[in-house]
Amino acid sequence: MAKNVLVTGGAGFIGSNFVRYLLETEPQVQVFTLDLLTYAGSRENLKDLPDPARHTFIKGDICDASLLSGIFNQYEIDTVVHFAAESHVDRSITGPEAFVRTNVNGTFELLQAARKAWLHEKPPLDEPVRFHHVSTDEVFGSLGPGDPPFTETTPYSPRSPYSASKAASDHLVRAYFHTYHLPVTISNCSNNYGPYQFPEKLIPLIIFNALNGKDLPVYGDGQQVRDWLYVADHCEAIWQVVKRGKTGETYNIGGGNQPTNLEIVQTLCAILDELRPNSPHRPHAGLIRFVADRPGHDRRYAMNIGKIERELGWRPKENLASGLRKTVQWYLEHTGWIESIRQGSDLTGWMEKNYANRGGNA
Ligand code: NAD
Ligand code: DAU
Repeated sequence: MAKNVLVTGGAGFIGSNFVRYLLETEPQVQVFTLDLLTYAGSRENLKDLPDPARHTFIKGDICDASLLSGIFNQYEIDTVVHFAAESHVDRSITGPEAFVRTNVNGTFELLQAARKAWLHEKPPLDEPVRFHHVSTDEVFGSLGPGDPPFTETTPYSPRSPYSASKAASDHLVRAYFHTYHLPVTISNCSNNYGPYQFPEKLIPLIIFNALNGKDLPVYGDGQQVRDWLYVADHCEAIWQVVKRGKTGETYNIGGGNQPTNLEIVQTLCAILDELRPNSPHRPHAGLIRFVADRPGHDRRYAMNIGKIERELGWRPKENLASGLRKTVQWYLEHTGWIESIRQGSDLTGWMEKNYANRGGNA
């Protein structure tokens, strides 16, 4: 049973939801968040935690081998849930270096630290140990309209610097299992949405811009398809894999839906029209602008989640309609969070650069 869990990237979107989930559901667990607090991470995401006495925050870099070694030893870490990464595809196109550094080199250093602490140092921990790597469906590439969804055996075909760096890290994790018998699991998940998502990503960006009467930028023709998963469902799936998944195995996780980006944006606009009947920007869909496409934009992702359903009994609880409504409500109730996140990051500069390049002005 896990006792001391190291959550890397725990001040980011999914990581902070996961830290909350763990503190709420596992009363025996101590949680250690390691996060560099890049532009995408914030202590704001870890405010008002349930049972905060069981949570320790460490500011630091997963590329720092001596820091990692100290953390494993001092806190007797028996479980790693590895979220820390550069996560935004658009940023990987304009600045790929950071993606290779953190996603590839950082994962390598973390694997080395776990290997040293768990397989080499004496005495070995009494409890079973587990290194769980959080990855993405983007490693599988892009599907055509009639192609079947990705399974765990779909060949890797990453097409952006982001997905290539995640694919490299997945391969390293598997190599440590086969070569050194490090007890690992991997999950590849589709697009997440929900509370605390950094507002450069499609869903929080659209909500924020619509509320403020700004353009809603849709890349290309808006007919790209994603499979969307509510973040709480992802957290539950990851923990099931950590607790009950088979060592050395990979599990696909997804929401089982196939909307186009344009449908997502239109749905968010309709929810905002209803929840903000007095908005001067109604109908919000009037703010939609088609802008230049993302280079190498993957057309369609879809996940086959049969394995995790069969083997671990997990399936998503939230459907897309209820999840989007909950998400819009959360952002409407947390406008202070958005403001502090925007002020504490490079978001304004990034948006100007990204959308000017695309012929938009978000
Ligand atoms: P995010 O960008 O919101 O958070 C990443 C966190 O990692 C931030 O808190 C950041 O400060 C931290 N970090 C970055 N570099 C670091 C370093 N060198 N050392 C320590 N901390 C560092 O990302 P997210 O959307 O929460 O994604 C988390 C993980 O889940 C990533 O590995 C991503 O590839 C994966 N994933 C994301 C999605 C999604 O839809 N968001 C879907 C599937 C998989
Ligand atoms: O599929 C899982 C991946 O989902 C994760 O691995 C990534 O970390 C995460 O960022 C996400 O990647 P996407 O590129 O799919 O997410 P993003 O929110 O950037 O974009 C979603 C879709 O919307 C994508 O097809 C691009 C499009 N888009 C995005 C933005 C920011 C727009 O049309 N307009 C926009 O302004």
